[in-house]
Amino acid sequence: MKKITIGILVLLLCAHTHAQKFEGIAETPPLGWNSWNTFSTNINEQLVKDIADKFVELGLKDAGYEYIVLDDGWMAKERDVNGNLIADPVKFPSGMKALADYIHSKGLKFGLYNCAGSKTCAGYPGSRGYEYQDARSYASWDVDYLKYDWCNTDKLNAEGAYITMRDAIKTAGRPMVFSICEWGDNKPWEWAKDVGHSWRVTGDIINCWDCEIGHGSWSSWGVWKIINMRKAIRKAAGPGHWNDYDMMEVGNGMTDAEDRSHFAMWSMLASPLIMGNDLRVASPQTIKTLTNKEVISVNQDNLGIQGFRFSNENKIEIWLKPLNKNSWAMCFVNMNDKPIEINFDWKKHNIGDDVNERNLDTKKDTYTIEDLFNHKNLGSTAKNLKGRIGVHDVLMIKLELK
Ligand code: GLA
Repeated sequence: MKKITIGILVLLLCAHTHAQKFEGIAETPPLGWNSWNTFSTNINEQLVKDIADKFVELGLKDAGYEYIVLDDGWMAKERDVNGNLIADPVKFPSGMKALADYIHSKGLKFGLYNCAGSKTCAGYPGSRGYEYQDARSYASWDVDYLKYDWCNTDKLNAEGAYITMRDAIKTAGRPMVFSICEWGDNKPWEWAKDVGHSWRVTGDIINCWDCEIGHGSWSSWGVWKIINMRKAIRKAAGPGHWNDYDMMEVGNGMTDAEDRSHFAMWSMLASPLIMGNDLRVASPQTIKTLTNKEVISVNQDNLGIQGFRFSNENKIEIWLKPLNKNSWAMCFVNMNDKPIEINFDWKKHNIGDDVNERNLDTKKDTYTIEDLFNHKNLGSTAKNLKGRIGVHDVLMIKLELK
């Protein structure tokens, strides 16, 4: 009898270990770079090494960026005779393990892409039916992060397919961030908390402020289209499980002001901050935005609370994010096509986050105000907050209890 009970316990424990993602990673949103937005499938070994070098040279590593992720197009068009994935021998002649070693030697981490379907979105071999084999390959190459897409999935069930890959990674035994990318089609914010570390919430981003670019059966979306697409999903985000608003377009052609607002908003949304620009030619202004440590620390705040829209009057978007130590981050984004003056009377507003039961009570408490992009002290909430905000620019502040 005793033996049977122990046997059942062991079985239960095994089942329990398998039905888990790796815990304790991505406790704050992942920070990194991904090849897709700029390079599509035109990637190669030298490019990736150059990007790793730039992480160090440009201070991105110091600012906290960690993952270098190769998106679609890293594989050979066919698996080998044993069904193993192989790196494209022309683009990556030294193979994936050597590239991982290079990236690790810089103190960074290495990510790869694949897809739950029979083929990736760009037509390379997908993982369907090869999940455990592929996970073993990634583990043997020392991969730290897997982005897992959703093309060519026919009638697959999304939750089931992502659980299969999660279990395959767990069984392969190497901790990897599991980045779910099914574009929000199957509401992953309702089921993916124990499956992945982040999940895309929309279709693909494109480098514009508020546009939609149609491609027949699908569209790419500008920054504000993405921000506005999903409602009431913020409560799903938290340490180890994030709403992913897609790789950033900072440095990819919007104005510096728009880039700042985009970066500020991804930080407010506690989204992974995955750069998508060519770091080899990035302008000093782009790097200044991307390495703003105060803004990054809003994104990385250890409470992991996703921010929310407080108001949107006269085309001024006001957003708030509760932070550790009863501090708050706040953004005023100017959606107008002309600069505006703001005059915000703290006493006229009741600011609170019902989901997390937090209040910013300026009648009871006084908060100091720090401007996070201009690195200036702006006084305190004892007085109205006044300022001028340029076209599509942001005033991002941190409020701390005095
Ligand atoms: C999908 C994803 C993108 C990118 C491409 C690669 O569109 O959403 O982020 O990975 O596939 O083909």
